[in-house]
Formats: sequence, C-alpha cells, structure tokens
Amino acid sequence: MPAEPLSYHPGFGNHVSSEAVDGALPTGRNSPQKVPYGLYAEQLSGTAFTAPRAENRRSWLYRLRPTANHAPFTPYTGADSWVTAPDGKAEITPNRLRWDPLPQAKPDTDFIDGLVTYATNGDVHAGVGVGVHLYSASKDMDRRAFMNADGELLIVPQQGAIRIDTELGRLDVPPLHIALIPRGMRFRVQLEEGHARGYVCENYGALFRLPDLGPIGSNGLANPRDFEAPTAWFEDSDEPFEIVQKFQGRLWRTELPHSPFDVAAWHGNLAPYRYDLARFNTINTVSFDHPDPSIFTVLTSPTAVHGTANCDFVIFPPRWMVAEDTFRPPWFHRNVMSEFMGLIHGAYDAKQGGFAPGGASLHNQMSGHGPDLASYRKAVAVDLMPLKIEDTMAFMFESNLVFRPTRTATSSPACQSDYDEAWSGFPKADLTRV
Ligand SMILES: [Fe+2]
Repeated sequence: MPAEPLSYHPGFGNHVSSEAVDGALPTGRNSPQKVPYGLYAEQLSGTAFTAPRAENRRSWLYRLRPTANHAPFTPYTGADSWVTAPDGKAEITPNRLRWDPLPQAKPDTDFIDGLVTYATNGDVHAGVGVGVHLYSASKDMDRRAFMNADGELLIVPQQGAIRIDTELGRLDVPPLHIALIPRGMRFRVQLEEGHARGYVCENYGALFRLPDLGPIGSNGLANPRDFEAPTAWFEDSDEPFEIVQKFQGRLWRTELPHSPFDVAAWHGNLAPYRYDLARFNTINTVSFDHPDPSIFTVLTSPTAVHGTANCDFVIFPPRWMVAEDTFRPPWFHRNVMSEFMGLIHGAYDAKQGGFAPGGASLHNQMSGHGPDLASYRKAVAVDLMPLKIEDTMAFMFESNLVFRPTRTATSSPACQSDYDEAWSGFPKADLTRV
C-alpha cells in the first residue's frame, strides 16, 4: 500500500478543475478539436442533461483511452451474496431484526466478493430504493476495478482503513470517515491494514445531497467545505486489468489491456467524496425534549414527495445532552419510515448490550421499538446533569420504502433470535401513582 498523504479539493458539489499533468485540461471548452496530448475528452453525467442547474452533476474526463474501448461483458460468477431489488427471495417479516458483526473475511476476499446484502427496497429498474450491504475484505482489489451502473455507493468503513482509487483520483477513508462513489465511476478498494469491514448503501435513487437546513440557517450539520474530492491522478500501466460491472442487478466482467485509471485531468461537479464524520456540527436541544433524529442527517436522497427521503444517512455522534425534565435516550416510536442501523464504534445510547460495533439492526415501517429495559430504567432514574456522550458513532440508513431482508441475512447465525427480549419485562404503568 502506498502511504503518501493524498491531496483533496474541498467542498461538496463544487465545480473543480484538476490536472495530474500540466496543460492536460483544455481551456475554455470541454471538447476541443485537438485535446492536449491527444487525450480523449469524455463526459460522465450523474443527472439528466436537462436537470435543473442546482441539481445538475456531470464531469469531463481527459484520458489516455476512451472508456468505450473494451471487449463485450460476460457474466461474473463471484460476489454471489450481492442482491438487488426487487428481491424475489426476500424474507418478509414484520419482526425487528438485529445481527452480530460480520465474521472476518476468508482469505483472498476483496471488497467486491466480500460484500453481503442484508436488505433491499424499491426497484432498481425504476431507479428507486436502496440496497444495504455489509462488507468484509481480506485482500486488495489490485488489478480489478468495479463499476456500478445501478447506483452510487455510500461506503461506511467500520474496521480497517481503506484507500479507494477512482478515475478522478484517490481517497483515504479510515473508519469514522465515509466515502461516496458516483454511479458509473470505476474504482478499486485497497486495504491499509490487510483487512477491512464496514457498511455500504447502494442508492438506486436520486443522488445523495446535503439536506436543506430550514430555520437552522446557512451553517450546521455537515458543512459543504468538509467534503473532499480527490485531485487528478492516473497510472500509465499497460498490464491486464479486470473490470467488474453491476448492471440491473447482475454482475458482469471484461478485461482491459491497461489500467482504467488513466484520467490525466478532469473538471466538473460529479466527483467521489470523503467526509470525516467528526466534522459534523451536531445540533440538539438546549431546553427540553430532543428533536427528531432527522437533526442528525448528513446526506439525503430525496423523492418526488417533498421532505420524504428515498434514503437519509443519519449519524448519532458524540454530543452533549443537557435537556431538562426529559427522557434523554431515543423515545419509543413507530415510524412510517424504515430504519437500518449500524454501529461504527462505542455504544448506542438506546441499548445496554447486544448491538455491537460492526453489527446491524432493522426496524421496519410501523414496528414498535426504542430503548431496552435497562436503558429505560437508567434514563428515568438518573439525576439529569449535563452529560457528554463520547466515543460512539452509530448511524442509520432511513428510507420511505420498507426494507426487505435477504434470506442470507435472516438465515445467518449472526441474526439474533432473542432480539425481542430487549423490550420484554417492562412493568405496567401504575395508575395509583402520580
Ligand atoms: Fe427508530
């Protein structure tokens, strides 16, 4: 693994110009008759050409060879635990589910083959919904690149730093950072520590963006400047390279006689990003009650229904709790939105045990959930003082569509059979007590 520090362009959705070779970027036009050095100009669009300007994302890539130059794709037989919506084999259940962490990957398992789908919703053909995956990898992708035509990938490392090489440049992504890889962009995952584990949200829907802030104002939550796009980088390599591509729920492969990472310069506003979750400007009550968890939204993929997300990426970061006369943990609730949770490190404040870092839980639409009995008892008995919740980072993929857990997930030995016990034993309220 190369260890040299990387450089980045700060800002989410910025129009960036980046050169790995001086003079490689055409000036004043996107597709001149003669591109400098004989490079090939190629546009990659993330939105329809006619999408409103504020939502329009596209970049221009200047590369050693056009992407179009490749042999036909043939079916790829690895990554057999990757499932796409609609999942005809899904295990439909109204039950709440929770899983122990994914075991360490077997040897010779890279990021693609080490990915296991836990749940999907929506329909990739219609461009709605998400796939939720966990990954456990034990080797670099090396001379393999992956490209997902089905959606962008939000990668949440939980164990083991990764370096993600993309067509636009490289990102170092340790745990407590996230990465966002655009639909259609080729990338590979290299392991900094020989193994890596984490979560992935595959977003079939509208591109993730920063949420509106409403009365919060012009600053707060995830600030745009803290997202980092890579600087242009390429490898001039004429050794064979395998390309694995996901298209409409199936995986395919082809071989190139060279590296696909051959972009000498690029400009535009469609880019991969990394973001340090420690930069999140956490906002919460300074009086009583606590706001809905939407106050912790980092990124949102909207639907056509205003305020209703295809997917929100929400975090539960370290923060001060100061609310007076308030039950401070998450309250009991039943939501129209469905919630898939993961834990990067530490403990989640609604559970006293059973939800381990690297684990996951699923509370689907209208399933009752909330703190377990031990957390409840502690929260109603404690003297309320300002308290800092530290050394923790849970997160949630929240969707307006019900998650359908895969058979792999529900039949896994990691799926806890006793999860309902978390809410057993609550005594009946005493109407003789004031
Ligand atoms: Fe919830």
